[in-house]
Amino acid sequence: MARPKIALIGAGQIGGTLAHLAALKELGDVVLFDIAEGTPEGKALDIAQSGPSEGFDASLKGTQSYEDIAGADVCIVTAGVPRKPGMSRDDLLGINLKVMKSVGEGIRDHAPDAFVICITNPLDAMVWALQQFSGLPANKVCGMAGVLDSARFRHFLAEEFNVSMKDVTAFVLGGHGDTMVPSVRYSTVAGIPLPDLVKMGWTTQERLDAILQRTRDGGAEIVGLLKTGSAFYAPATSAIEMAEAYLKDQKRVLPCAAYCDGELGVKGMYVGVPTVIGAGGIEKVVNIQLNEEEQVMFDNSVNAVKGLVEACKGIDGTLA
Ligand code: APR
Repeated sequence: MARPKIALIGAGQIGGTLAHLAALKELGDVVLFDIAEGTPEGKALDIAQSGPSEGFDASLKGTQSYEDIAGADVCIVTAGVPRKPGMSRDDLLGINLKVMKSVGEGIRDHAPDAFVICITNPLDAMVWALQQFSGLPANKVCGMAGVLDSARFRHFLAEEFNVSMKDVTAFVLGGHGDTMVPSVRYSTVAGIPLPDLVKMGWTTQERLDAILQRTRDGGAEIVGLLKTGSAFYAPATSAIEMAEAYLKDQKRVLPCAAYCDGELGVKGMYVGVPTVIGAGGIEKVVNIQLNEEEQVMFDNSVNAVKGLVEACKGIDGTLA
């Protein structure tokens, strides 16, 4: 059987890391596409030359032509610009919306059967626009944010409790922005929910609140440190986890920006929700029951995403 084909649209910091991880994990052959001449070719060659030492079997190709993504099984989109210190993800909207139009049309014309994972920010609005521009089924187009935000939350919790990250489960709902909703009730250490751990004296409510805020600000913290761009190792790892779930039909339960058709009270838009990812793409949105306080925070986040989607419609009249 031929190897799966993974097309990476955007060969910048995240795109290059995605290519390296996909090759190391032998998820398939990799095509790196970018408008910057030489960048995808150079990265493809460099990563291919790590193959003999690592011992992976995967071919890597860099290109400026959408024809080379033909028949891709997975497309991961990072094309666009990242933020600089002082910028919010929302500040990228105008520039990256235009990029989503050309990328969406490229995928529509050359890889219409692919499972598409968008990473470009502002994430929830860009994945919506990408689905609109590509015309692919909504269950085959999703956005990577929840896995990353949850990983940041899990990392901070594991450090706080001095336990293995493997035993910390957590998830984050809502938009990938300042209004995201880290779920306290559903986050656990080996099945023990966070509120119980506070009662047990493992941490205090104040310290937990600080971790929640640090999770919300997780991207900005890294932008502030790097100064010239945004995070790329953990975003790439998170998207690879989603791609692997699809390619291997793992039925992973992962939070991601998925199209909601009434689930969690959201209709006709993309927002961060728990999903099941398998060979059918987004096979299910897990329709969890929120309590009153969570619902208020979630609705606030959904409204922020709605505002961005309206702004997209204002910029590009072809978006319905
Ligand atoms: N088509 C293809 N590639 C494009 C296009 C386009 N129309 N416009 C820009 N690019 C490419 C750039 O040439 C660059 O190589 O997208 C790449 C983006 O890479 P980086 O600038 O290194 O950004 P990165 O850190 O990878 O982040 C990409 O993901 O997390 C988000 O906010 C982040 O929106 C940003 C995206």
